Amino acid sequence: VPNAIPLGFFGFLTTASRNPIEIWGTRAFKEPYIVGKWLGVPNIVINDPAGVRHCLVENAKNYVMQPLRQRILRPLLRDGLLTAEGALWRRTRKAIAPVFTPRHTAGFSETMQDRSERFADGLAARAGGMVDGSHEMTLLTFDILQATLFTDDIADDGETFARSTRDFLGSMGRVDPLDLLGAPAFLPRLRRMRGRKSMDYFRGLIARTITRRREQIARDPDGAPNDLLTLLVKTDGLSASEIEDNIITFIGAGHETTARSLAWTLYLLSQAPAERAAVEAELDTILPTLSHPSEWLERLPYTRAVFEESLRLYPPAPSLNRTALAPDRVGDVAIPAGATVLVMPWLIHRHEMLWDRPDHFIPSRFLPGNREALDRYQYLPFGVGPRVCIGASFALMEGVIALACLLRGLRFDYEEAAPPEVVQRITVQPNGGLPLRVSRRTPA
Ligand code: HEM
Repeated sequence: VPNAIPLGFFGFLTTASRNPIEIWGTRAFKEPYIVGKWLGVPNIVINDPAGVRHCLVENAKNYVMQPLRQRILRPLLRDGLLTAEGALWRRTRKAIAPVFTPRHTAGFSETMQDRSERFADGLAARAGGMVDGSHEMTLLTFDILQATLFTDDIADDGETFARSTRDFLGSMGRVDPLDLLGAPAFLPRLRRMRGRKSMDYFRGLIARTITRRREQIARDPDGAPNDLLTLLVKTDGLSASEIEDNIITFIGAGHETTARSLAWTLYLLSQAPAERAAVEAELDTILPTLSHPSEWLERLPYTRAVFEESLRLYPPAPSLNRTALAPDRVGDVAIPAGATVLVMPWLIHRHEMLWDRPDHFIPSRFLPGNREALDRYQYLPFGVGPRVCIGASFALMEGVIALACLLRGLRFDYEEAAPPEVVQRITVQPNGGLPLRVSRRTPA
């Protein structure tokens, strides 16, 4: 099995802390398994769907979240679902799962539509000009998340909340070389230190918001707004600090991801006139016949397929990182105890063995009739197995509703000569933003 990471020690260290997805050479997109070593720890990349199923589903108990990922995320997200392990994770996942049922998610569709329409109106007022599509989509998904989490009812005020969230996410998005070298936790990570004060403020703000809502619900159980916070406060078996950690986790995991996928979708459509026309035709003919936004995900198959194809080409979470507890085996590859196992949507989604024309934008792969032919383990934007994204149906619904509202009356064009540089900063994003020209479109 070849080592497909063609970099020496320092090359790896600087690349992995600057832009981790650049470490992968072309062979990583051709081989079923790749074996390497980092600081004496074996690293095994699994591209084979059967191997993915084995490690993330059948033998999932043998794999825990990789210490490197935990070192980076746990100081920020603490006992939230993304960074919890063992009995704590099992208990909180079970408690929170009902909050993300399709019924509750559908209950948020009107808010998603309302915020997206307002946002599209704001962009329409800037028609003719340039916007940073990546930044704009972050503003939109942040607004949707704020409305679905808190109904805008935040202690202090929305403006300070937005600012401290930006600081918090800024400190989350950078991998410190000390983390890659496995340095002990007491050594300060310079890249995160700057964010310490705003992090404390951010946590305090969330805690005050939760306390206020708890008091409100105690006074008037049916009078509280119908949002994620109310659902969480009313969930049995979650302590105040667990609610706090999970709200922070939803903010960390639940809006930049969706924002990136929306921005990449706008970019991809700007490069594919026929696909764009097909989406516009669907929005012009079918959308006016639909009464409620909770139907859009199922009734706008082309818009959905475009969004799903964009999640294939640019999976916002490009890497699922685990550590093996006991020795294991996948195919003819031995996995020693302590090995790092990487399941990488970034590689699997563009793998030559798995996709026809892997680097091409072909939304029809995800149309009903075609998508059934895909292996469940070759398409993993939301992961798979017990740790699968709890917000997946929320994100899909949000993505399709936001796209429908934006593309109904607007067009976005990428006019740069060179394609955007793809960088990984927790999420996969266009380096330096995504310049797009906005123009109005008259529906047919
Ligand atoms: C987990 C992707 C949106 C909350 C995950 C995982 C992936 C992922 C790949 C699994 C990580 C692993 O196995 O190591 C995405 C993408 C999104 C998205 C691509 C948008 C396009 C959301 C939203 C929320 C959310 C909207 C919440 C509001 C979470 C949580 C986990 C998670 C809490 C941890 C689940 C657990 O370990 O039990 N997400 N996500 N995500 N996601 Fe998402």
